[in-house]
Amino acid sequence: MEKRSWAEPYKIKMVELLKMTTLEERKKAIVDAGLNTFLLKSEDVYIDLLTDSGVGAMSDRQWAGIMMGDEAYAGSRNFYHMHDTIEEYYSYKYTVPTHQGRGAENILSQIMISEGDFVPGNMYFTTTRLHQEIAGGHFVDVIIDEAHIPDSEHPFKGNVDFIKLNKLVDEVGAEKIPYICIATCVNMAGGQPISLENLKQVRAWCDKYGIMLVHDMTRVAENAYFIQQREEGYQDKSVKEIVYEICALTDAATMSAKKDAIVNIGGFLAMNDKRLYEKACELVVVYEGLHTYGGMAGRDMEAMAIGIKESVQDNHMRARVGQVEYLGKLLDDEGVPVVKPYGGHAIFLNAREILPHIPQKHFPAQALAAALYVESGIRAMERGVVSAGRNQETGENFMPKLELVRLTIPRRVYTQAHMDVTAESVVRVMKNANKVKGLRFTYEPKMLRFFMGRFEEID
Ligand code: F0G
Repeated sequence: MEKRSWAEPYKIKMVELLKMTTLEERKKAIVDAGLNTFLLKSEDVYIDLLTDSGVGAMSDRQWAGIMMGDEAYAGSRNFYHMHDTIEEYYSYKYTVPTHQGRGAENILSQIMISEGDFVPGNMYFTTTRLHQEIAGGHFVDVIIDEAHIPDSEHPFKGNVDFIKLNKLVDEVGAEKIPYICIATCVNMAGGQPISLENLKQVRAWCDKYGIMLVHDMTRVAENAYFIQQREEGYQDKSVKEIVYEICALTDAATMSAKKDAIVNIGGFLAMNDKRLYEKACELVVVYEGLHTYGGMAGRDMEAMAIGIKESVQDNHMRARVGQVEYLGKLLDDEGVPVVKPYGGHAIFLNAREILPHIPQKHFPAQALAAALYVESGIRAMERGVVSAGRNQETGENFMPKLELVRLTIPRRVYTQAHMDVTAESVVRVMKNANKVKGLRFTYEPKMLRFFMGRFEEID
């Protein structure tokens, strides 16, 4: 068959030079960082695949928007541009800006959750769950079982399992469930989408019980792209249309605009209900800033408005997800165990399989991320037992089935050659896997321990 490749729908106007380090320098740097890639200095990193959050490359138009910042304390022109863009592209009528996604999670959790409530969701996210718990709620995982199986090829691993959801209502009653939180392209499951069919069923379920449907829309455009590629009946719809359709099925949304919307900082809480909006405005002035900037500069709101429009272009998404798939395929061809299907924002390495000699209590994914950095200066992130943390009531470690290392691809930043180098480095680490040792904490923070925890090797 004649080959037709995709290529990036942009060209490069400015570059940022990378620093190369020696093996000795990297060995010292990772020990200084307590074997935690979050504690490395970015200067010591060659290819930074820690996250796709706030690290995307803005377009010339976004940078031009930065110069159009209206930094008025109240009523900035850029706020209205952002607000109207959110309504036009995402359907939500009211927007409360926040400094980033977790700011929105905090406000939503405080408004909606009472002590002893239960919040079902299609898998946890670290900050989302913590805010629910701080507000007195309990998170309940209602994602389908396939999401916890790294090599299950289910096309929509982000789907909700209604047996789990109904069981929760039977046990606690609908009045104890203030809302269900549905993430698009579920991060912790490996960047896996929910289908529109499933989301429509969730909508009907919420209507039946009078429960609100909240959307963690951090990676909604990537989810929409997968729907276009995989779900029957959506092949002729644009990513933009599908994004709108997803959002319009939900009542409210939290957004970390640092991902899909390709800005370095920013987020929002959006909704259709005026009363909820008024409550959110009361809290945003306490925690973030006035309701027309909420922790963002005018220029950042302008860059976000422009970024939202760019993020839903079909050719952008094809190249974005295409690059992730390119890396996934390189690794797969070399026999590296990765989560399937490939995610929208990242390729996830199955650390259990790569390091079978390290039991989960000795943090194999943490050890693998550290080893990859030492090998090549590539920075990845642990997404396993360290990220899962401890049960706040029992103090026991959560033991997630998924013990993963995330190679997260920033938007529009790296080239195909960087992906080649990354894949080769992972293969080299895997060949020497038996030399990688398990770890123990030398310092364990109480909350979100993966950010600042420190470790040492166990001999
Ligand atoms: N929800 C999801 C699904 C996320 O992935 C993130 C952040 C947040 C909420 C919180 O947003 O960082 O702007 O406060 N994820 C980043 C990551 C940190 O690397 O996966 P935030």
